[in-house]
Parts: sequence; structure tokens; C-alpha cells
Amino acid sequence: MSERTYDRIYIGGEWVRPHSGRSISSIDPSTEEVWAEVAEADERDVDLAAAAARSAMQGPWSSRVTPAQRGELLYRLAGLLRRDAARIAELESRDNGKPLRDTLGEMQRAAEWLTFFAGAADKIGGEQIPFRPNALAYTRREPVGVVGAILPWNSPMLLYSWKLGPALAAGNAVVLKPAEQTPVSAMELARLIAEARFPAGVVNVVPGYGQTAGAALAAHPGVNKISFTGSHATARKIMQSASVNLKRLTFECGGKSPHIIFADADVERALVVATQSAFRSTGQSCSLGSRLFVQKPLYSEFLDRIAARARRIRVGMPLDKSTQIGPQTSAEQLAKTQSYIATGKQQGAQLITGGGRPQGFDRGYFIEPTVFAGVENRSRLAQEEIFGPVLAVIPFDSEEEAIALANDVEYGLVAGLWTADVSRAHRMAAALQSGLVTVNTFRTTHPMLPYGGYKLSGVGRESGMEAIHHYTEVKTVVVDFDPAPPADPFAD
Ligand code: NAI
Ligand code: MG
Repeated sequence: MSERTYDRIYIGGEWVRPHSGRSISSIDPSTEEVWAEVAEADERDVDLAAAAARSAMQGPWSSRVTPAQRGELLYRLAGLLRRDAARIAELESRDNGKPLRDTLGEMQRAAEWLTFFAGAADKIGGEQIPFRPNALAYTRREPVGVVGAILPWNSPMLLYSWKLGPALAAGNAVVLKPAEQTPVSAMELARLIAEARFPAGVVNVVPGYGQTAGAALAAHPGVNKISFTGSHATARKIMQSASVNLKRLTFECGGKSPHIIFADADVERALVVATQSAFRSTGQSCSLGSRLFVQKPLYSEFLDRIAARARRIRVGMPLDKSTQIGPQTSAEQLAKTQSYIATGKQQGAQLITGGGRPQGFDRGYFIEPTVFAGVENRSRLAQEEIFGPVLAVIPFDSEEEAIALANDVEYGLVAGLWTADVSRAHRMAAALQSGLVTVNTFRTTHPMLPYGGYKLSGVGRESGMEAIHHYTEVKTVVVDFDPAPPADPFAD
């Protein structure tokens, strides 16, 4: 028997039963047991949700609610999330297996994102363009319309805030589809949306499977934009179905981020950051520093020390306060990580530490922090996103070589380097093909900082005022007040 049941989905401001009459069984990845049942939305529910969002766009949400009031609603939502952070964090930890310390932090960060965009809501304006003396030209930034938000399972609530914040600040209506692996916190979010008193239909929550609910949202002619976070394979499918009505797209599709340590780095700081950037969240993060390039004079020392740190990471039950990383979120993800570890060994990489199930766990999707050395940059271990706690360590000689190796990958989300040389830092920042380059730190994400990928890592940007642009259409308006007669090519 599951411990929690959500038998309704949230459409048009109402809690309704899903057409399917079925539910999604959500598994606690630390026990491999079903712990929650969540009503399953399918195509028919997505259709209703899109219609509800459309009527919200045609009602007071667009015509009466002021930008400042949209900001107020987002502030209220942020406050409610802070109030309920501890409770929802625990549910999130049960659903996706992250340690409580991480999910608690994510609730706070989600509230920070909502707060940033609450403040942005009344600062979204167009510009006036002095293109002719006897005319007024200006741009309006209008909402795109109905936004389909398709989310993954690695940081559910935080990523909801990344999409809802800018979408709602800019005046859009949203149909939100959580990942089938982690639907629970989305239902809690829907409760808070209702409590915050957003107008009906402004946010709709449809937990469902990718093939059904997700695909229906991507193909829906009444949806104007898809904002997606997940794998680039799914992004491709969404892009194809989204072509029906040329939907606007924002994709964040993960990466294989290079983390480059020069011999002149502050080694102590770099070690702390490289370790957490490789193993935090059991490796289930789009911004993982999963390819660690170390300049040769420092290589063996750094490798030894990061492996020693990896061995000390406490793998444990998500609700245990001393746990540093939990299990992987699903059996599929665990199998994927294990298959890359096997491939790494077959392809001749040297396993330095980890690679197996940690001692003391006979169930749950647990895996040890794993370090491979001597990894060939063109090998699958160094080229493909694993999404598990598996680090590939690669030596290099020169700055040029580091750039070539770092860029020789299909992804481009985050890149980071450690050096004391200011000139090199800026040269590298310009040369690295990546949406975020960090120097003497790694993968800083913040509501103020635009975030997104080059190459297969994505399309568009999230966060910062930049995100607002991706949730608006620009309309140019030209008003002519020239008293002179207009040019007439057909005179005489
Ligand atoms: P996925 O991309 O299949 O799932 C993400 C979301 O897309 C889920 O809500 C899913 O229901 C939905 N979806 C699936 N198929 C769809 C379709 N045809 N149309 C519309 N929506 C669809 O990712 P999955 O299978 O859960 O994870 C596989 C790999 O993807 C991971 O191992 C990791 O490498 C990568 N990934 C990257 C993430 C990131 O943060 N960028 C997050 C999650 C996964
Ligand atoms: Mg689950």
C-alpha cells in the first residue's frame, strides 16, 4: 500500500479526476517500493488544461491583472513555499532520493527564483526607437501565450520555479507536466498555486507520462511555447512535434561539462569544488563537472586527492541527516550509470575508486562515487552524459590543448577553469564553447544569471532578465504623424 495518494489533477483552478482513471505509482528509490500514487493525466486532460490556460489568457489575467499584481502573486507563492519547505522537501526526498539537506536547499532556492521574477514582473518593458522624426516607434513585450512546461526528475521543485517565475512574470499561462518519476511535489505546488489565488487556468498541473501527456503538450496546436528540461533525445522529438505551429522553444538538455585545473590553481579550493561538482546529487545534475582536465604537473596529486575525497562521501538514506548523497532516482538511471562504468572498463579507462554498490545496501538504487583515470577524451565515458556520480579525469599539457579537449564534445552547458593567470582566464572564457564559463569557481546558478547551452545542451536561456525575453513576443508599433503627404509611387 502506498503512503500517499493524490487522486486529482489541477486544471482551470479545479481539482478534477483524470480521464484515464489510472494513477502513476511513484517509487521511493531508497527502498524500491511504491510510496505514492498520483492521478495520471493523458492527452484528454492535456487538452482541457491547454483550453483552461487559453481562457485564462483571454480573461482578466491578460486584461485586468497588472504587472505589479502578477509580481504580488509570485511573492505570495514564494512565501508559501518557504512556509512549507520542510514538509515538501521531505516529500521530494522520498520521491527522488536526494538527501534532505539538498531538497531543503532546493525549496529555498526555488523561493529565491520566484522572488527574483516577482520583482521582475513590473520591469518588463519595450523600447522607443527614434527611427524617424515624424513618427513614434516602440516595441511591446507581450506574453507568448500558453506555455507547456515539461520537467525532469532531478530537481523538480527548483526547476518548476525556473519556468513558472519568468513565464508568469511575463503574463503567460502555464500547463506544467512533471516527470513521471517524481510527480508528488508538483501536486503540492498546485495546492500552493491555489492558496496564492492565481486566477483559474493560469497554472495547470498535469502529471503524466512523456509518451502521452508530454507528447500531447508538445504537439498541441493551442500551446504557443514549450519550455523543456531533460535529454536531448526527447528535445529532438519535442522540436519535431512542436513544428506543427512553430512553437517557441526553450530547451535545457544537460551536458558533459569540462572542469579544467591549471597547475597554478588554488588547489585546496579547486579540490573542494571539483569534488562537489562531480558527485553532488548522485551525479544527477545537468551542470556536472564530469570531465576533469588536470594540467600534467598537478595531475597525479590531484587525482589521488579527489579519489580520496570521493571515497569519503557518505552515501545513505535520503532522510538521514548525515547522508551526503542518496540513491539514483530510478532503476533506469542506475542501469544507465552501471552500463557506462562497464563501458569505461572495457574501453581501457583505469578505475581508481568506486564502480559498485556501496556496502550495507542490499536494496535501493545506490551506487558508489566513481573515479576513472587515463580516460580517452573521445571515449564514450568522456563524451556522453551519464547522469551518475562518475568522474573522468584527463591530463593535459597546454592551454591550447585544454581548449581543444574541452570543446571536443557535442555539449556546451558549463565550463570552468582554475588559474591564477588573469589573461589566461579571459582568453579561455572567450574560447570555451559553453553557455556558462566560470573561473575559480564552478557552475554558479543564480536567478540573476542567464543559463543555458551551446550545441546539444540546449536552445534559449533560463534565469536572469534574459529568461523574460524567451517568454515574450516583441511587437513593433509604428505611429506616423508626418504632416507631409506620403510618398505615392502611383501618382501620375
Ligand atoms: P527525458 O528527457 O525522457 O524526460 C524529461 C521529461 O520529458 C519528462 O517529463 C518526460 O516525461 C518528458 N518526455 C519524455 N518523452 C517525451 C516526449 N516524447 N514528448 C514530450 N515529453 C516527453 O529524460 P529521462 O529519460 O528521464 O532521462 C534520461 C537522461 O536524460 C538522463 O540520464 C540524463 O542524461 C538526461 N537528463 C537531463 C536533465 C537535465 O537536467 N538537463 C534532466 C533529466 C534527464
Ligand atoms: Mg519516485
